[in-house]
Amino acid sequence: MSQPHTQNLLEAIRKVFQRRGAEGYGEGVSQLEHALQCAAFAERDGASDALITATLLHDVGHLLHELPDNVAEQGIDTQHESTGSVWLSQYFGLAVTEPVRLHVAAKRYLAATEPGYFGRLSDASKLSLRLQGGPMSSQQAATFAGETYFEDALRLRRWDEEGKIVGYQGPDLVHFNNYIKDSYIRNRDGG
Ligand SMILES: [Fe+2]
Repeated sequence: MSQPHTQNLLEAIRKVFQRRGAEGYGEGVSQLEHALQCAAFAERDGASDALITATLLHDVGHLLHELPDNVAEQGIDTQHESTGSVWLSQYFGLAVTEPVRLHVAAKRYLAATEPGYFGRLSDASKLSLRLQGGPMSSQQAATFAGETYFEDALRLRRWDEEGKIVGYQGPDLVHFNNYIKDSYIRNRDGG
């Protein structure tokens, strides 16, 4: 497969957000605002380039499909974590794609293992959790804890919960270009 120029990759990401980023995330913030907030918190907490990129793009699967943004209310799980991680695998390695693929499982894990976590979830997250299979069984949780990117998936998940602040003023999409570029180049060059 021919490699896209980094500028084309940044353009592809910009277009994805331009096309559907203004849609509601479901908690008073848009998809783009949610993505930017989550990535800003990952940056604040000193995450790697790859994990900041993963966090910025963790919900890209919601923006790729042609379904309306209120499908969860219709009882449909779009499996956006799978769609998103497959799309991202065109450009990035496992350090980006795996936390994205696992971020829904991380919610199911935390709901099963961390006292008080479920109660703190937003209403939209509680609804989607039910559609995504609910809290993990202890066996599922033990298997999940053995995933190579388990820790990164949990960190992403916590930023995901945090990135729902109405009126938050943070960095714009361009601010994250260098993290995206570095993650892409490292993967392309096999580093
Ligand atoms: Fe999210």
